Amino acid sequence: VTSFETAFSRVYDAIFPPRPSVQALLGDLADRAPAPRWLDVACGTGRHAIFLALRGMRVTAIDLDPLMIRQARRAAQRAGLSIDLRLGDMSRSETYRGLGRRIGGASCLGNSLVYAAAPGDLERTIGHIAACLVDGGCFLVQVVNFDHFADRPSYAFPPIPVPSAGLIFRRRYERLEGGVLAFHLELDSDAGGGETLKATHLIRPLTLADLESALEAAGMTVRERWGDFDRRPWSAEAPATVVLAAR
Ligand SMILES: C[S@@+](CC[C@H](N)C(=O)[O-])C[C@H]1O[C@@H](n2cnc3c(N)ncnc32)[C@H](O)[C@@H]1O
Repeated sequence: VTSFETAFSRVYDAIFPPRPSVQALLGDLADRAPAPRWLDVACGTGRHAIFLALRGMRVTAIDLDPLMIRQARRAAQRAGLSIDLRLGDMSRSETYRGLGRRIGGASCLGNSLVYAAAPGDLERTIGHIAACLVDGGCFLVQVVNFDHFADRPSYAFPPIPVPSAGLIFRRRYERLEGGVLAFHLELDSDAGGGETLKATHLIRPLTLADLESALEAAGMTVRERWGDFDRRPWSAEAPATVVLAAR
């Protein structure tokens, strides 16, 4: 029996193909970084880590899911790159062991910071990342624009077909007590009749204000707020919340 996590780590890059606008932004930030080291938090299959390593950065990338780290390790090997890939929880200090204060740029993309949902986890995670940055080092965060979902009891995203795997990916938010959301994920066979793999995660719907106050509490200054990776200005209706902060 395949678990949702196994299937998801295999099809993640087919569901969310790497986007040129993300790479353009990361590339610009890497080129301007005050130190040639990058930290990618919740790296998933390693796409950003690999892109940045190819660009000449020394990259550390962390993820909680061993299957994602395995995908990232394989991809780095295929590309002939040496990347410091770490299995660990972004909210725990052990995960950042030995990094010192030498990182020139950090990222947490793909709506991942929302998994710091338990009380204090967001503040701890951002604090650990800030502590790794040299002065002037940047931190790029992207989450779904939760200001947009603020009043909805539930929201289903349009399904994403994954023809190469014969699957359909579905995601839905459900508002729970206490301000957290249940994030329901499903992979269905597109032919029907096959098994449906499911997972539910608790997430914290981070508004722009939540994110900015956590960044500022960790001693960072917010430099930019965009509504997407094409760097359009943020608004409550924009699809994403993309924030660039610096130490
Ligand atoms: C939607 S994926 C995004 C992956 C990647 N950042 C990207 O943009 O393609 C979310 C990732 O967050 C990771 N994650 C969730 N909770 C985490 C935690 N507490 N610490 C580190 N990684 C975590 C998951 O394992 C998953 O790989």
